[in-house]
Amino acid sequence: MSKGTLKYISVSTDQLKVNTILDFDIFIQTSSKIILFRKRDLPFTEETLQNLSDNNVKTIFVSEEDREKIENYYDSTRNNGSQKLSKEGFAAPFNDPKMVEKYFETYVNYYPIENENLLPGTRINFKVFKKSNIDTEIYIDPDNEGNLSNIVPQDIHDIKCAIAIHKEDIPLYKEYINTLALELTKKNDNSSELHFSILRENSKFIIKDILEDPRSGETIEKAGDLVETLTGTILENQNNFSSLLKITTHDYYTYTHSLNVCSLSIGLGTELKLKRDPDLLELGLGALLHDIGKCSIDLRILNKPGKLTENEFKKIQGHVIAGKEMLKNNSTKIPKNSLYAILQHHEKFTGKGYPYNLKDDQIHLYGRIGAIVDFYDALTTKRPYKNALSPFEAFKLLSKFQDDYDKKLIKEFIVMLGKQGNLKTHEKA
Ligand SMILES: [Fe+2]
Ligand SMILES: [Fe+2]
Repeated sequence: MSKGTLKYISVSTDQLKVNTILDFDIFIQTSSKIILFRKRDLPFTEETLQNLSDNNVKTIFVSEEDREKIENYYDSTRNNGSQKLSKEGFAAPFNDPKMVEKYFETYVNYYPIENENLLPGTRINFKVFKKSNIDTEIYIDPDNEGNLSNIVPQDIHDIKCAIAIHKEDIPLYKEYINTLALELTKKNDNSSELHFSILRENSKFIIKDILEDPRSGETIEKAGDLVETLTGTILENQNNFSSLLKITTHDYYTYTHSLNVCSLSIGLGTELKLKRDPDLLELGLGALLHDIGKCSIDLRILNKPGKLTENEFKKIQGHVIAGKEMLKNNSTKIPKNSLYAILQHHEKFTGKGYPYNLKDDQIHLYGRIGAIVDFYDALTTKRPYKNALSPFEAFKLLSKFQDDYDKKLIKEFIVMLGKQGNLKTHEKA
């Protein structure tokens, strides 16, 4: 996110620890611009936190130039004695069970949307909220005659925090973006930011439906159609690939992850000169469905805002076999090659992966592609207890663990993302 030439990373005030020294400048958002709130190298005290909270500030901003400093800060506060994880794996503020409850309440009742999809000056008939990990705050309220009208504000695209709607308003939101999409079609526009932002949003809706009803026969058809659209989009123009990847939501959702893994896999497959039909389509379908088994896992574990215990991690590992079971009824509809991406994306070259401890070329190409892009997307996604790594840092980690993966593919993957300009950091952390 930029203002003039400066780019900012948004940081929830929950992530700042009282009585620490911040070696980066802190900025805050006023109604029209971002201003400096506190110079670097000053202590962050109870009073500072109170001051922010009195002014209703839940998110502060740090210059992109200080990214390394804020990440070191996260690391040091995490390792600091006062930030020890509870035995259930929670750090502040989630070591308070009430906060965990609030987190899940927000998670279950709200649906994050991409703010690019709301056009300034247009009318909407659903409420929009600013969303942090724990709380929401009303931002646009069509039911209220006052300042929060039904008109999308001019500065909507400058908002630094996540925005969300009530889950029950999803149909109204879908209607709104479909009207926008129709207008784009009339103008023959299939390359604007808005076009891609709507495509991403609609793709996530489709994947969400698939994950909610994974056993239905229609699921595979819907998934197949979506993979055709995504493959067509990527093959049409290489630059489209990075537009599909743009991450604007701040939380982990299996549907966002599935969309990213699918786009990244098709991108890497294209780099490897795989044929569209059947190769890219089979790879894409497997990648889209790779985590389908996760819908059988308790949300409290799957989206736990803390480090998993060993037992919980074992339960998560069960998603691979659960996915296989779920797709049994539709086995004739899924090409065998697609199943490799689902069954083998957690296998490692060293044989230390799961569920079958396969080694080297026992792992199918689609399993090897899946493993790399899955790891990469997990690293570059923000979680309530961990910040997203920049693509560059994610590559450093991938290189560190390269023995677990197909090294030749890692190389191709880096070349591919480099071409797309994705080595730059995501706009929103
Ligand atoms: Fe997985
Ligand atoms: Fe995954």
